Amino acid sequence: MAKFDFSQRDSFSSKIGIIAAAAGSAIGLGNIWRFPYVAGQNGGAAFLIIYLLFVIAIGIPVMLSEFTIGRRGQRNPYGAFKKLRPGQPWCLIGIMGIAAAFFVLAFYSTIAGWTLEYLYRSVSNGFSGKSPSELTEMFSDFQQGGLMPVIWQIVFMFLTAWIVYRGVRKGIEKYAKILMPIFLVLILVICIRSITLPGAGEGLNFLFKPDFSKITPNVILEALGQALFSLSIGMGTLITYGSYISKKDKLPNTAYSVAAADTFVTVLAGIAIFPAVFAFGINPAEGEALVFITLPGIFQQMAGGYFWSLFFFMLLVIAALTSTISILEVVVAFFSEELGISRKRATVVATAIITIIGIFCTLSQGPMENMKIFGQSMFSLLEYTSVNLLLPLGGFFIVIFVGWVLGKRNVKDELSNKGVLKARFINLFMVIVRVIAPVAIAIIFLNQLGLLKF
Ligand code: PHE
Repeated sequence: MAKFDFSQRDSFSSKIGIIAAAAGSAIGLGNIWRFPYVAGQNGGAAFLIIYLLFVIAIGIPVMLSEFTIGRRGQRNPYGAFKKLRPGQPWCLIGIMGIAAAFFVLAFYSTIAGWTLEYLYRSVSNGFSGKSPSELTEMFSDFQQGGLMPVIWQIVFMFLTAWIVYRGVRKGIEKYAKILMPIFLVLILVICIRSITLPGAGEGLNFLFKPDFSKITPNVILEALGQALFSLSIGMGTLITYGSYISKKDKLPNTAYSVAAADTFVTVLAGIAIFPAVFAFGINPAEGEALVFITLPGIFQQMAGGYFWSLFFFMLLVIAALTSTISILEVVVAFFSEELGISRKRATVVATAIITIIGIFCTLSQGPMENMKIFGQSMFSLLEYTSVNLLLPLGGFFIVIFVGWVLGKRNVKDELSNKGVLKARFINLFMVIVRVIAPVAIAIIFLNQLGLLKF
């Protein structure tokens, strides 16, 4: 078998490139599509508060841990653990992450395909003059049709593969740097339109006025899963990206910036969606379709709505793309570094397998919705297993590894760039990754499983 030449590993070329790529990975459908739909089903403001707590107390430490493992290991998630602790079972965490990448991308590409359809409808002015109920119907017709969602999904996977194939510097970094800032400006404009709709106040209350009686063990687990998912952590995406970060760049600052940007976009997405949801009389617990029926309605209420809608869906496609490439990159880095196959072949094989699983996810949201596995559709099963089980489990072992196995000296060395940076937070960080984060994740898990009751 051909061996991968590690001296030829690709890397990010600049600080701003890293932040753009990592933020590009974090910011995506998780913020715009998943957060509103999951928050809508899990109590709105109360969910948001728990989510924010988890981002700070668990998300940022896990993110820093992933960067540390990646940059120190200089490998894909499996290879990094294996190199740092040879002959020990830690590399299984890497394998679990790679499995999660397959699952996540399979269901993510379903939704990404939907965004392409919505971009196409924006171009062809397909939303014009439609009432909220007509928009709802239009969405379900599209979903039930079966063929178009699958075609768009394949197109999306093809786009993802093409960028990944081009490599880190010329592919991922180049696109992320230009497009993410434009996206931010656009959401801001949509927020302004949404909160000035008549009846918007109720939506803002839903998002910001907590009703703590809505909190259940499941809501807490959902918030944890969503925080990890949104930050792209728990499965090795940021181990992989971390391995492309140069030894001179600052890991802590990168992690703070990425987490801050991602959280900002999540809150903005909430502000954009919920006022409109209530103004249009849509059920906030509507589910996966929520933003697809809400957003076109907002555009109907905007002067120049045709262009706003066009721009928005274009950028949403791109935001999704900068996330899907980061997921595919995990698998491709693993295949090419560990199996010694060329990057091109690794990309083709990974894309083909994921697309096939993904097609079943897409169909399970439409024509095959009655086919259930363990009482759930294929889509929900993969979504739940990866986001609420694999990511928290991955996050748990990642912090345990950094806290207890890698050794404080090594961690400090990595986070301070061998003492060049001060890294004053190191003691606090160690307490969090050794005790606070793992205990919190374990409690949430056991609580949800009913093994621990409060
Ligand atoms: N964070 C991405 C989003 O919010 C999704 C993602 C999850 C990407 C896990 C990589 C790893 O859209």
